[in-house]
Amino acid sequence: MKSTFTPALSRRGFLAGSAAAGAAFSLQPAWADTQRVFTLRAAPGRARLVPEPWGESDVWCYGGTVPGPEIRVRQGDRLRIAVENALEEDTTVHWHGLRVSNAMDGVPHLTQAPIAPGETFTYEFDAVDAGTFWYHPHQRSFEQVGRGLYGPLIIEEANPPRVDRELVWVLDDWRLTQEAEIDDSFGGFHDMSHGGRLGNTVTINGRVPGAEPVRAGERVRLRLINAANARIFALDFGELAPQVIALDGQPVTPHAPQDARGWVVIGPAMRVDLMLDMTGAPGETVTVIDRFFSDRNYELVDLTYSETPLRDAPPNWEMALAPNPLPEPDIGQARRHEVIFTGGMMGGMVERQMGLSGRGGMMGGGMMNRMHDGGIWFVNGVAAEGHILDPMLVLARDASHVIAMTNATAFHHPIHLHGHSFRVINRNGVPTAHHEWQDTVLMAPRERVEIAFVADNPGDWMFHCHILEHQAGGMMGVIRVA
Ligand code: C2O
Ligand code: CU
Repeated sequence: MKSTFTPALSRRGFLAGSAAAGAAFSLQPAWADTQRVFTLRAAPGRARLVPEPWGESDVWCYGGTVPGPEIRVRQGDRLRIAVENALEEDTTVHWHGLRVSNAMDGVPHLTQAPIAPGETFTYEFDAVDAGTFWYHPHQRSFEQVGRGLYGPLIIEEANPPRVDRELVWVLDDWRLTQEAEIDDSFGGFHDMSHGGRLGNTVTINGRVPGAEPVRAGERVRLRLINAANARIFALDFGELAPQVIALDGQPVTPHAPQDARGWVVIGPAMRVDLMLDMTGAPGETVTVIDRFFSDRNYELVDLTYSETPLRDAPPNWEMALAPNPLPEPDIGQARRHEVIFTGGMMGGMVERQMGLSGRGGMMGGGMMNRMHDGGIWFVNGVAAEGHILDPMLVLARDASHVIAMTNATAFHHPIHLHGHSFRVINRNGVPTAHHEWQDTVLMAPRERVEIAFVADNPGDWMFHCHILEHQAGGMMGVIRVA
């Protein structure tokens, strides 16, 4: 029997991280350098999401903790992860953002049979790209993720940039009752037809955050992962000047956040790696504020400087990450495809304003006219239902493709494609400054975004909004690479 890494440590133990994991891995045989073995057990559990005087909350989670155990490997390692289902319903695990083979992608019915209660399924894939990723179920994910099933998956670069410290912040947003239990109103029509299930309690690594101690002069690499069903964050780091070094795990030329106000905007499922130089003075406090909803700003966490500085001025170490082995799309030769997202509350109005109504059955109508179809959100006029199998698009394998996407709705949507990373090449016709690689692109209402990539990974891949209530309400499709 191979030795497995059974997550029995506290969450703190995991985030302290490599030491504990290293001890477990040292029991491995000689191939352990490249093959990393993990066990993830999905089960009901209890977690302390909110501080005293509230109690713990019932959750569903991996390895007894929220988030689940941090999986941390080196680029080029092979991962072998046994997923045990101790829930009372089917599940799967999707490795969000990882370019795995189709059979390992974790989409029930499309790429594998769901893992039934009591069963185990072992995933096996290579860590092709270094970066910040995460894992979560793809079965009724609006409820399974919403109850706490998710965890960080970090793939370290061969030569990581020098920092003093690294932090992983998995952000989540919970809808809790006064008793600190999860409100079980999952899949409600109002949430589905508006901005998704927004909560009332935001956590970092499964806890309402206290203070994060920092030191003057310190450089921290902060890996942000948004595991919320629906909440978009726009983090204001105050006087600090974060540099973005990776988006969705993929390196990008280091730059200040592109938002005009310097906020770090991160939609559901997205990741942002930041370099944060602690330029404040000993004893100071910097408050990180989420400003996405202008009428509902709140203080996320305090960064509190210790009395002893680490150094007088921030270091000038190189920040840039080495690129991952992604095939470069030939945009001039690329085949073009159009995708239009419609539906949701006030969607008919937006379609009319954008001049899209009356283009025949596909575009006509608006939400209320289509409700009898059972769907709320539409991708090229189709609201997906249940476990979809038929592709909405077939992409020639190994060719370059541009998908021009239009958000003809009144809401933001983080649109995710499985199995590939894509370059975001323009927004509303304006070329993006960094042609950033993403696997999830946040589209504002009425926005047009073009993405480009080489369809080099054969199979049937999900393409969907990562506001999980929108996905459940029809905002998904299958893209076949063949
Ligand atoms: Cu993060 Cu289809 O999912
Ligand atoms: Cu959406």
